[in-house]
Amino acid sequence: MPGAPCLPQPVQGARGPERSRSLRRSLTSVPETRTTDPGEAAALQAAGARLLRHGHDMVLDLDGPAPTIPPLSGGLRVIAVREAASRLPAASVLAYGPGHPDAPASLAEAERRWQELLADRAIGPVLEPPSVAIIDALGDEVVGALVVTRLWPESWGWPGGPWVADIFVVPAHQGRDLGRSLLMRAVAWAHGAGELRIGLTVSDGNPAQRLYASAGFRRQRTLFVLETA
Ligand SMILES: CC(C)(COP(=O)(O)OP(=O)(O)OC[C@H]1O[C@@H](n2cnc3c(N)ncnc32)[C@H](O)[C@@H]1OP(=O)(O)O)[C@@H](O)C(=O)NCCC(=O)NCCS
Repeated sequence: MPGAPCLPQPVQGARGPERSRSLRRSLTSVPETRTTDPGEAAALQAAGARLLRHGHDMVLDLDGPAPTIPPLSGGLRVIAVREAASRLPAASVLAYGPGHPDAPASLAEAERRWQELLADRAIGPVLEPPSVAIIDALGDEVVGALVVTRLWPESWGWPGGPWVADIFVVPAHQGRDLGRSLLMRAVAWAHGAGELRIGLTVSDGNPAQRLYASAGFRRQRTLFVLETA
């Protein structure tokens, strides 16, 4: 879903094959159909529906040893995520560049999304810690960020717990283990807090899936969200 990178995909209804119609909470209230059935998603698309999101909810069970967090290098340091609030939208627009499945349509959209997220309205209360922003040595530039919220129980089987609501690293700093460091910060915090699991949603085709899989996250549900009007 554009501009909704790691947001969970709540579905009304029972567990198992899930299908519901709802009104997307947007300015235009577009009728949606949600399904976990790939055949149904394909049939709906063949009939003219537009695929809004194809995402995977991934969960890591925290029953192993305490994880380690790769250290930050080059003078980078972390600050509280809300301290960086005014600089997060522009940095995230850089990170979710053109062509990314979750790229926001505009800076204004990114600003709206961050406002909702940090006001605890997008998913659930922001957990601080472990939510942080990484800033450069001078404290000028936001290099990356991690937002973890508490997602309440969901009908698809999520029993409630910490949820990685957003994680990004700006392109100039990607590929240097910062994303892994942020993710492991979330995992280590959850482990230390006695949480039993941690989850996130990733859009199909986002290479970040490899990072999550290598950290031990496993797919729990795949959901197709289609515009059916
Ligand atoms: C996902 C993201 C945070 C990873 O940050 P990063 O600092 O580049 O990642 P790391 O250097 O820590 O790499 C960790 C692993 O991520 C995987 N990976 C993540 N993004 C990748 C990409 N664009 N291309 C290739 N591999 C990628 C690799 O498997 C890598 O493992 P490896 O080094 O063993 O191959 C960063 O690419 C990003 O901001 N992407 C855009 C925003 C986004 O999609 N956020 C996730 C939303 S669910």
